[in-house]
Amino acid sequence: MTHQTALTYPDALIRQILADVKTIAMVGTSANYNRPSYFVMKYLIEKGYRVIPVNPTQAGNTILGETVYASLADVPEPIDMVDIFRGSEAAGGVVDEALAVAADKGIKVVWMQLSVRNDAAAARAEAAGLTVIMDRCPKIEYGRLGGELGWYGVNSGVISSRAKRAPGHGEGAAGKTDYGFSTRAIHAGAAPDPTTGARATPIFQTTSYVFDDVDQAASRFNLHNFGHVYARLSNPTVCVLEERIANLEGGRAACCAASGHAAQFLTFFTLLEPGDEFLAARNLYGGSITQFGLSFKKLGWTCHFVDPTDPENFRRALTENCKAIFLEVLANPGGIVVDVERVAEIAREAGIPLIVDNTMATPALCRPIEWGADIVTHSTTKFLSGHGNALGGAIVESGRFDWAASGKFPSLAKPEPAYHGLTFYETFGDFAFTTKARAVALRDFGPTLSPQNAFLTLMGIETLPLRMRQHVANAQSVAEYLAGHPKVAWVSHAGLPDSPYRALAEKYLPGGPGAVFTCGLKGGFEAGVKVVEGVNVFSHLANIGDTRSLILHPASTTHRQLTDEQRAAAGAGDDVLRLSIGLEDAADLIADLDQALDGV
Ligand SMILES: Cc1ncc(COP(=O)(O)O)c(C=O)c1O
Repeated sequence: MTHQTALTYPDALIRQILADVKTIAMVGTSANYNRPSYFVMKYLIEKGYRVIPVNPTQAGNTILGETVYASLADVPEPIDMVDIFRGSEAAGGVVDEALAVAADKGIKVVWMQLSVRNDAAAARAEAAGLTVIMDRCPKIEYGRLGGELGWYGVNSGVISSRAKRAPGHGEGAAGKTDYGFSTRAIHAGAAPDPTTGARATPIFQTTSYVFDDVDQAASRFNLHNFGHVYARLSNPTVCVLEERIANLEGGRAACCAASGHAAQFLTFFTLLEPGDEFLAARNLYGGSITQFGLSFKKLGWTCHFVDPTDPENFRRALTENCKAIFLEVLANPGGIVVDVERVAEIAREAGIPLIVDNTMATPALCRPIEWGADIVTHSTTKFLSGHGNALGGAIVESGRFDWAASGKFPSLAKPEPAYHGLTFYETFGDFAFTTKARAVALRDFGPTLSPQNAFLTLMGIETLPLRMRQHVANAQSVAEYLAGHPKVAWVSHAGLPDSPYRALAEKYLPGGPGAVFTCGLKGGFEAGVKVVEGVNVFSHLANIGDTRSLILHPASTTHRQLTDEQRAAAGAGDDVLRLSIGLEDAADLIADLDQALDGV
C-alpha cells in the first residue's frame, strides 16, 4: 500500500480505544521473537493488556504463556478488540470472522496493523457498529501518546505544557493539532520533566542508560521496544530536538547528527548500495559538492551533478541505478531558488526520493515536504541553532515514501542482517528511514549530536520565526543598498526586482528569500580582500546563519586552491563576496559596508 493516502484518526479516539480496551485477540501472532507481531504482543502485555494469540498454524501451542487459538470463534472468553496482523487482502476475511462473533464475544474495535488497510472490510465493520482503525500499530500509538516513542525522533503531534501520559493513565493533551508555527517552535517535542517538573529541556549528560532487567535490555537492543540503550544512538535531550525539527518540517520523524555533513552521510548510507548513483544540483554548498563528488566516490556511490535551473535536466540525467535526487531549495550562496515542486514530480515518476537540504531557508521560510520532498536534511549549525555556537545536523522523513514499491531499496524493504533479519519498513512503517539511519548508520559510524549542542539548538529554535523575520528584513535592506552602490557590479538576492529567481522565491519562500547572498565588486580580487579586511561589525569567517553578520571573500579563502575556471564554476569568482546578514541594526550594517567600500 502507499502512504500517500494516509488515514488520519483523532488522538482522542486512539487514546479512548487504548484506555477502554482490556482484552485483545491478535490474529496472525507469530511465535518468532523477531517478528513484529511477537514483540507487539509482548509490549501490550507489559502495558497491562490481556493479549490472546489467534493463528491456525500455531493452534494449541503457547506464545508468551498464552494459548494460541485457531480462530476468533474458538477463543473461550470475551474480546474487546481484534488486532489484525495479516495482509490487506486477508484482513477482509478476518473482519468477517470478527463480525460473525462480535455480538457473542463483545468485540467493539477492529484494528488493522501498520500497512494493513482494507476499506471495504472497514465499511462492513463500521456498518455493524464497530470502531475501525487501519494502518496503525497499537504499540506505536500507545508509545506515541505516552511519550515513549520519542526514542525514534517521531513527531508525536502532541503539544502540551503537561507531562505526557499513556492511555488509561489520566487525561492526555487536549488533542488540538493545528497549533501555529511559533507555538510549535517553542513546544514541539518538549514536555515538563516527569520526575523533577523542570520546564526547560534538561541536558541529559550521560553516555548510557540503566536497564530494569536482561529481558528489557534485550528488547531494546533488538529494537523490539522503546527506550535508550547508549548515547551513540539516542539521548533524551537530542530526541526533543529531533521531534521538534520533524514537527516544524511537517515530517513524520527526524534523526539528528553531529553536523550537516554527518546527516548527509547517514542519509546516503541508509539509501545506497555500492555501485548506486544519485543526482544532485550542481550549485550546492561547496562542502557538499566535495563530499558527494569525491569522498562518496570512494564508497562506490556516484553523484551526477545537474544544473537545477531547468528541472527537466534532472529527468534527462536519470540513470537505471539512480536512487535519489538531492538539491537545496534556496542554494548557498548564490540566492538561487530551485523549482522544487517540479523536481519532486520527476523524482516521484522515477520512484526515487527527493532529498532537500533546507539549511538556508529553514522551515520558517519553506517546508519542502509540502512541495513533495521525501527527505529533508539540515545543517542545524546555521539558522536553526542560529547563534554560531553549536554544530549539528538533522534528517527528516516525510513518512510518505513507499520503500517497497520499486524494489530499489532493499536496505529498508528487505530483512536487515545488521539487525538479525528485522525488516525496517515492515516494522516501523512511516518512520522506517530515520529509524534505519539511527539504528544502523548512526550506531555503526557514530557521528552523534551531543546533548549540549542539542540544548543550544533547541534554545535557538524557540526564537526561529522571530529571528528569520529580522534576518530577512535586514538582508533585503543590505541587498538593496549594495545594488545601488557604484562599486558593486551585481547582487544575487532573490528579493531584488531584477532577480531571475524572484517569482520562484515568491512561490516557495513567501516569508522572504533568506539572509545569505552574494555580490560582485567592480574592483575584483583586490577589492574583495579590502572589503573583508575593512569591515568592523561584519565578522570575516566561514559560516552562515549567525545572529552576527558574516562576510567571506571565497576567492582569497575557501576557494583559494582552485583554478580561475573552477572558482568561476563554483560561483566564487575573484570579485565575489558572500554575506550572511545577522540581527544587528540594518543601518549599522550598511554603514559598516559603506566605510569598507570607501577604502576600495
Ligand atoms: C547548505 C548547507 N548544507 C550543509 C552544510 C554542512 O553542514 P555542517 O557544516 O554542519 O556539516 C552547510 C555548511 O555550511 C551548508 O551551508
